[in-house]
Amino acid sequence: MPLFTGRKVALLGTGLFLPEKLLTNDDLSKMVETSDAWIRERTGIKVRHIADDGQLTSELAACAAQNALASAGIGADAVDMILVGTNSPDTIFPGVGPKVQAVLGASRAGACDVQAGCTGSVYALAMAVSGISSGLWRHVLVIGAEVLSPLLDWEDRNTCVLFGDGASAFLLGPAPEDKRGFIAADVRAEGEFHDLISFPAGLVERPASSETVAAREHYVKMKGNDVFKFVNRKLPPFLKSFLVESNLKPADVTNWIFHQANLRIIEGVLRRLDVDPAKAYVNLDHLGNTSAASVFIALHEAMEQGVLKGGDLVVMTSFGAGMTYGAIAFEL
Ligand code: UT7
Repeated sequence: MPLFTGRKVALLGTGLFLPEKLLTNDDLSKMVETSDAWIRERTGIKVRHIADDGQLTSELAACAAQNALASAGIGADAVDMILVGTNSPDTIFPGVGPKVQAVLGASRAGACDVQAGCTGSVYALAMAVSGISSGLWRHVLVIGAEVLSPLLDWEDRNTCVLFGDGASAFLLGPAPEDKRGFIAADVRAEGEFHDLISFPAGLVERPASSETVAAREHYVKMKGNDVFKFVNRKLPPFLKSFLVESNLKPADVTNWIFHQANLRIIEGVLRRLDVDPAKAYVNLDHLGNTSAASVFIALHEAMEQGVLKGGDLVVMTSFGAGMTYGAIAFEL
């Protein structure tokens, strides 16, 4: 059973940070052979935020984390652990987590990154809840942060039109008496599909060389249509059994926070679950796919806009490179 037992855990605060610069579909149509109509119809995306040159994932993550701490009214010195879901760390080491820890001055906190494709933030959230629930930690900052733009091939229309940069952070801690908090989580991997989304070169398997640079292997590669089919095949039965094993019925769920990769995926999966697609909060029109940051940004926005409020039951679900996928259920 995927249920959390032990101490109840609640979301105590959320924070957002988006780079200012915007890139529209029309801008992209001047860079590669694409059109606003194609991107909107196939994905739902209209515009995305892109980091300035030199603006790092750790900077976005630290700003989002500061906002989450302020929203929770908790000081950095009360944080025990910082977990960062990211696929675009400033460097492979050191990770983003320790840099955020230093910026915050979170002197008692451990810090590390969780790299699990776009599902990384859901993995990190499940780990954070488990750590608090077990009594190991009391307050944990979980961050989803990405600056994928320097890792995209701006000559490849299959990928460059899809992604955006951004960060959001959650501060978790023990739940007040009257709150149910986090209920259940299930995270999965199917590594036999590892070649569907990859970043081929620059590490052990394909060390950087003039050949890897010439072959444009230092950029995100994705077999988009295969990913689309994988997700549509795997997610509906997975989410159905997740709800059953979490003792939840579809009608119990106030809102679905999906990974914002493609509007057709969100609507198609929900239709297969017999759930009204209007029950999903969607922001990919103005943010694109922010990878591991997407579900956290979506929840933050939905709460800020009053779409979600205290007592609502949320299922957050994501999928991405690995292939990985997962879901986590909680009451706000
Ligand atoms: O966050 C990680 C998880 N990622 C995802 O979940 C992404 C999942 N995949 C998708 O969202 C969709 O597969 C895409 C949006 C990436 C692509 O949509 P699609 O409906 O699967 O299109 P396709 O890849 O089958 O390509 C259809 C056509 C092709 O042309 P031909 O071969 O039919 O002539 C592509 O070359 O669309 C072409 N195409 C484009 N045309 C204009 C591909 N990208 C573009 C583009 N603009 N940007």
